[in-house]
Amino acid sequence: MITYKVGNIIDYQQFIELLKASTLGERRPIDDEARMKRIVEHTNLMVTAWEGDLLVGAARSITDFAYRAYLSDLAVRLSHQKQGIGTELIRQTKLAIDPKAVVVLLSAPKAAGFYPKIGMEHHPRAYLLRNEDDLNQS
Ligand SMILES: CC(C)(COP(=O)(O)OP(=O)(O)OC[C@H]1O[C@@H](n2cnc3c(N)ncnc32)[C@H](O)[C@@H]1OP(=O)(O)O)[C@@H](O)C(=O)NCCC(=O)NCCS
Repeated sequence: MITYKVGNIIDYQQFIELLKASTLGERRPIDDEARMKRIVEHTNLMVTAWEGDLLVGAARSITDFAYRAYLSDLAVRLSHQKQGIGTELIRQTKLAIDPKAVVVLLSAPKAAGFYPKIGMEHHPRAYLLRNEDDLNQS
């Protein structure tokens, strides 16, 4: 049986272990412990999925709880994927914020088919700034 918990109850080492077990570790700075510690400590909405004492999934968001929740990481242990856990982590994230607030995310390449499948809306106007020098001077 899988149980879901809302709250910052895992530390960065548990989070790194989950990222590795889900394969998302390939795309996150898991070898930079100081950065991973900041990532976890500054998260203000963490939903976790548990099978007993085993952490099997997490949805990590930054949110104002009233308007937007930026879902930064969604990871489910490889051994537990395709059982509805990823979908439920997103549902619990949505339930934790104001009903009128919206969950926003950028998909990892491997998960691009997942979000439309579970009913999320594609938004064509997402923008990234990787380097401040890329900004045009006025
Ligand atoms: C993407 C991920 C979170 C999905 O979690 P999950 O628990 O396996 O998802 P669910 O079981 O809720 O899947 C719901 C549906 O989407 C499908 N699905 C799951 N992963 C998919 C993927 N990567 N691409 C397309 N469809 C996918 C499932 O088969 C299921 O369909 P079904 O109802 O017809 O069986 C999980 O596969 C994962 O952790 N992947 C590696 C890390 C990653 O890429 N995370 C996303 C970062 S943006």
